[in-house]
Amino acid sequence: MKTVIGPFTEIISLKGLPQKGALQDEQLQIDYNAAIVVEDDKIIEIGPFNGMLREHPEAKIESIEGPHVLLPGFVDCHTHICWAGNRAQDYAMRIAGKSYLDIAKAGGGIWDSVTQTRKASEAILAAYTKARAKRHLLEGITTIEVKSGYALSEEDELKMLRAIKKANDESKADLVSTCLSAHIKPKDFEGDEEAYLNMILEKILPVAKAEGLTNRVDIFIEDSAFSTEKSKPYLEKAKAMGFDITVHADQFTTGGSKVAVEVGALGAEHLEATSDEEIELLANSDTVAVALPGASVGLGEPFTPARKLLDKGAAVAIASDWNPGSAPMGDLLTQAAILSTFQKLSTAEVFAGLTFRAAKALNLEDRGTLENGKLADFQAYATDDFRNILYQQGKMKPAMVWKKGERVK
Ligand code: NIG
Ligand code: FE
Repeated sequence: MKTVIGPFTEIISLKGLPQKGALQDEQLQIDYNAAIVVEDDKIIEIGPFNGMLREHPEAKIESIEGPHVLLPGFVDCHTHICWAGNRAQDYAMRIAGKSYLDIAKAGGGIWDSVTQTRKASEAILAAYTKARAKRHLLEGITTIEVKSGYALSEEDELKMLRAIKKANDESKADLVSTCLSAHIKPKDFEGDEEAYLNMILEKILPVAKAEGLTNRVDIFIEDSAFSTEKSKPYLEKAKAMGFDITVHADQFTTGGSKVAVEVGALGAEHLEATSDEEIELLANSDTVAVALPGASVGLGEPFTPARKLLDKGAAVAIASDWNPGSAPMGDLLTQAAILSTFQKLSTAEVFAGLTFRAAKALNLEDRGTLENGKLADFQAYATDDFRNILYQQGKMKPAMVWKKGERVK
């Protein structure tokens, strides 16, 4: 079934832009008064509205009334939206001055979410994940990465991964799951860091693979989580098993992004503490630097040095890190808009970071731009000028959203 959708005042396809480095708005190719032609779940053509009507006389027409700007669906390449419980108490302590790490040491933080998530059933976790994914989809996010890592035992991590799979099966958005069993070493594990990582390699990953639960592995490299020394062989072994790698790197201390580059990770994510040395390493690699402004806002910590990373030539994606602790807001567009004012990013850099550069961090080549053959994932904003989107600082949400050619909002 073929459909011509339009006319759109502007279609910002983001096609033809480089995967890495700084971008200027002048590089954006804009199709004015244009239509997008969709067949099944794919884009087959973009061009002038009247021309598309003439070329595809047999197609159904979905007419768009009033001014609208069309963008690719956003890709949120880093979230933790599978969780149970609530950490409002931590948050209240943090805004009153206690640090994230002190709260964690006192038994709050990630461990608190682990306790709550272990108690929840697979069905409940799937329902929570689905509800959060739906909220994201209505805000234009058509692909959402989701990590495990709030259960930290063989049985309960697999429960989380199965819940994410179930949520994906029942959601319109695509949920891409990642095994983050190496989030922190659980307090009740008998054995050292290496023994825990070996447990993941021997017990969790083979089952995850056999059941098709995930093909991605993440680790939190940090003084309070896993060391660079133990992380590297862990990631190398996971990679040898066929998993794509990504790393929670340089959030409070450095070291993680170097490991990420050395093991050929798809993403080095957080990077709030990253210095010039790591920026150089990332810029000279294919690892995508993922900025998580929601965690900076949630913790009152510095932003990822996105400007410097881009100027040195790195690929920078922007993700929400939506989670119950460090990043409870979960509003990707607002966070990207905030990052852009503090880091001085062009609109083109923000849009690239929310779309094709984020898709690269997930190893997905079939989405992130609007061009022939790509998935028909897109969103329309009720405005006649793309610059109004960031100008509204996240308050303007898409009026319409399509996932795989189907209108979902
Ligand atoms: O990406 N930094 C580690 N993990 C998560 C936060 C988890 C939490 O606080 O619950 C993050 O910020
Ligand atoms: Fe995270």
